[in-house]
Amino acid sequence: MPHPSPLHTAIEAAIAAGDIIRRKFPQTREIKSKGWRDIVTDADFAAQKAISQIITRRFPDHAFLSEEGRHDIDLSAPVPTWVVDPLDGTTNYSHRFPSFCVAIALAHHGEIQIGVVHDPMRSETYFAEKGHGAFVRGVKGRARPLRVSGLTDLGEALIAVDWARKPEVRERIVAALGRVAAECRSIRAIGSAELGLAYIAAGHLDGYYHLALQPWDVAAGALLVTEAGGKISTPSGSTWHLGNPEAVASNGKLHPALLKSLALG
Ligand code: IPD
Ligand code: CA
Ligand code: CA
Repeated sequence: MPHPSPLHTAIEAAIAAGDIIRRKFPQTREIKSKGWRDIVTDADFAAQKAISQIITRRFPDHAFLSEEGRHDIDLSAPVPTWVVDPLDGTTNYSHRFPSFCVAIALAHHGEIQIGVVHDPMRSETYFAEKGHGAFVRGVKGRARPLRVSGLTDLGEALIAVDWARKPEVRERIVAALGRVAAECRSIRAIGSAELGLAYIAAGHLDGYYHLALQPWDVAAGALLVTEAGGKISTPSGSTWHLGNPEAVASNGKLHPALLKSLALG
């Protein structure tokens, strides 16, 4: 049998982790504090274990950076590196607010090659491979291409934001929120950065910003956005790189207006 591709492996691992998370969703959860406004549950650890087993068995020579695992990984190293968030949206999950996902990306020399975001509650898998477009597969099992929205007027746009833990970063987020809220149609806070980016790729959202991203919060979603025709940049409009905590994503057409309105650069 041929060796499964990295993309197929990432999808298989994301669905396996998602099944665990969904099964545990109605159960009593074990919640531990990792720090101020930072929690982890038994589902995060169980999902990570399932992902790591599938990926490291197939690709033992690759590096593996995961939120609940090793962080001492150099993303710019010339080694294929998996970047994994086993459960993005743990605060939502712990409140039984059904909006979270599993996110798996593969980067090489700091460039994201593969991105998979799996929503276990809706059984939707968003996936992209660099240069080959972005797709979503739902319960019916047929993959369909993802395309960002066509909006050109910020006044009609649905913009999303997610929160940072540090008070001083929250203050900047809120200040920008006030500016963009005065101009756009409405604002959402998703609680899962990766899902927010997948929604930009799918055209459900027109813009998104975040000022405290870890690589695993954004790697998969960033590729989905660009492969679906959208744009991700720093708040000042320069090229965004994996490892940069601040990002603005959009359908591309709204990007200049969104950056100007947020005025974070
Ligand atoms: C969090 C989510 C959230 C974002 C936080 C992240 P976690 O990830 O992506 O939307 O605002 O900055 O830490 O902790 O649920 O994996
Ligand atoms: Ca996360
Ligand atoms: Ca997480």
